[in-house]
Amino acid sequence: MANIQLRNVTKTYGAVTVIKGIDLEIRRGEFMVFVGPSGCGKSTLLRLISGLESISTGDMYFDGELMNNVMPSKRGIAMVFQSYALYPHMTVYDNMAFGMKLGGSSKSEMEARVRRAASMLQIDHLLDRLPKQLSGGQRQRVAIGRAIVRDPRVFLFDEPLSNLDAALRVQTRLEIAKLHHEMRDVTMIYVTHDQVEAMTLADRICVLRDGLVEQVGTPTELYDHPNSIFVAGFIGSPKMNFLDGQFAAPHGCATLGIRSEHIDIVPQGAGLWTGTVIHAEDLGSDNYLFVDLGAKEPVIVRQPGKVAIPEGSTVSLMPRAGLLHRFDESGRPVQAPLAAE
Ligand SMILES: Nc1ncnc2c1ncn2[C@@H]1O[C@H](COP(=O)(O)OP(=O)(O)OP(=O)(O)O)[C@@H](O)[C@H]1O
Ligand SMILES: [Mg+2]
Repeated sequence: MANIQLRNVTKTYGAVTVIKGIDLEIRRGEFMVFVGPSGCGKSTLLRLISGLESISTGDMYFDGELMNNVMPSKRGIAMVFQSYALYPHMTVYDNMAFGMKLGGSSKSEMEARVRRAASMLQIDHLLDRLPKQLSGGQRQRVAIGRAIVRDPRVFLFDEPLSNLDAALRVQTRLEIAKLHHEMRDVTMIYVTHDQVEAMTLADRICVLRDGLVEQVGTPTELYDHPNSIFVAGFIGSPKMNFLDGQFAAPHGCATLGIRSEHIDIVPQGAGLWTGTVIHAEDLGSDNYLFVDLGAKEPVIVRQPGKVAIPEGSTVSLMPRAGLLHRFDESGRPVQAPLAAE
């Protein structure tokens, strides 16, 4: 329900500035995902938005209202952490109702909200259990339910699924996507290290690097048009291939980037590059071939389905036209067209 604006926000701990001047607007009802390397300031930024930490300089607004000195409890936010932080001696129902109880809500209103949140998350049948009687995924759903019950205008998630196993992550990810769909006005900010979560949940992704915003855009914009080598290498799995020196020079750039799914294996001699398959990873649905071209690192080529190319084979590779990314020495995209293009 809130539009969030950060204007030149910084955060300093002692002598160290960890948030270095962030300008960012998060739209009402938007699902914004923060990604970036460990230590870049994602959790700190969430804590600043929540009010659990105060900003050092700059301004923050919710719907145009200055939030700098507003208490966390008055901001209308709810936060879900990696560790579920449920009260072990309380039932699921009491855990979910706790915040409302403190807020002095009536018993009937409390019950209605808890039941509604429980049914959204399909934990109705668990309301009488204690946290220790739940699986990790169920506990995290209770933590999310507790946040929903508080009827927040902003939902903050800090890596909520990272303690769950692969299958539960997928299931809970779908629950969160559904939640966003059902709570269209609630602004959601979500920190993750998981590429799939970022790409599938986000309306927009904000890539942070060393306390600054590197790029903000839709998942597709970032994937197709990264505005730096950093973003190109950060978004996407496997990582974009980078080639420099003799491989990049003919394309008028210092570094050439190409995604693994944009390289085809072509008949011998028909490709742009020739190399040796040094390793193959079979993921069942896809194969990743690691091909040594004599560059600094092997190039990863993604082949759908089953491929029978034994290690040690020589292959000819052709990058798809128009899908090369060219970067200059400073890591920014080269805008000038190639003479031949
Ligand atoms: N209370 C604090 N005092 C001093 N430094 C801090 C404090 N909290 C965080 N930092 C530092 O601020 C930087 C950013 O930390 P933050 O927890 O925001 O990173 P992050 O992007 O969430 O990383 P991760 O992906 O590992 O969770 C780190 O270098 C961290 O050591
Ligand atoms: Mg963190």
